[in-house]
Amino acid sequence: MNTLSLTIIGGVDKSGNPDLVNEIDIERGEIIGIVGPTGSGKSTLIADIEQLAQGDTPSGRRILINGREPEKQLRTDPRKKLIAQLCQNMHFLADMSVQEFLKMHAKARGKDSELVSKVIELANTLTGEPIDPCYPLTILSGGQSRALMTADIAVISDSPIVLIDEIENAGIKKQEALRLLVGEGKIVVVVTHDPMLALMASRRVVMKNGGMIGIISTSVQERSILVDVERVDDWLTALRETIRHGEVVA
Ligand SMILES: Nc1ncnc2c1ncn2[C@@H]1O[C@H](COP(=O)(O)OP(=O)(O)OP(=O)(O)O)[C@@H](O)[C@H]1O
Ligand SMILES: [Mg+2]
Repeated sequence: MNTLSLTIIGGVDKSGNPDLVNEIDIERGEIIGIVGPTGSGKSTLIADIEQLAQGDTPSGRRILINGREPEKQLRTDPRKKLIAQLCQNMHFLADMSVQEFLKMHAKARGKDSELVSKVIELANTLTGEPIDPCYPLTILSGGQSRALMTADIAVISDSPIVLIDEIENAGIKKQEALRLLVGEGKIVVVVTHDPMLALMASRRVVMKNGGMIGIISTSVQERSILVDVERVDDWLTALRETIRHGEVVA
């Protein structure tokens, strides 16, 4: 696997004051969180990365790949797409089945169509409601489509950088989705206030008034809290399933 680093060079906040964090370097296999109140600029930072901004967005930030300004081709050629994004809303407009869509995607990426069943299998480990390969894309639930996109990014897409804007209510096993992506050696940048996801990240960027005002490294103590958080989350998930199945909580 090629080495890869993503660097964010600070720009300005909404008032035009410089970002207090002026450089962040991220390596393969790292999960990095973005936190901050509504309107603080989290999605804007994600958009800067997705566009490989070069001082040409309102924040004036620059994104470097392997320490250098990325070549033009990286910004435009879909085959060389470095960055995949898992959005807040997933809309499939195409009138085709899950299987057809994945086959087409595999072909476009020059991948074996045998990967298609692997994607569906993996997606079904992330969602409570299994996806049938013959389902039309348009009938997938929010959770199913996010699970499918996550598995697709992990298996078919080569994009080594994955951006995720809030998946807390996504209806998928989010920590497994994150582990899956990072296990493939990807860089995962995730906007989240979910304690489990935020603590899975090794660092989190703190946003305020459009600026990057700080960066917190997940401490050993925070990691130990993560164990408890996962336990509580498992418990809540089990309760949710009980209620979903129309049963009584014992
Ligand atoms: N550095 C910046 N310079 C100029 N404008 C900015 C900057 N950062 C954010 N903004 C603007 O502020 C508004 C809110 O930003 P953004 O949508 O990124 O916030 P958010 O943290 O994602 O909010 P939410 O939690 O509601 O999703 C947007 O209109 C965005 O264009
Ligand atoms: Mg946002």
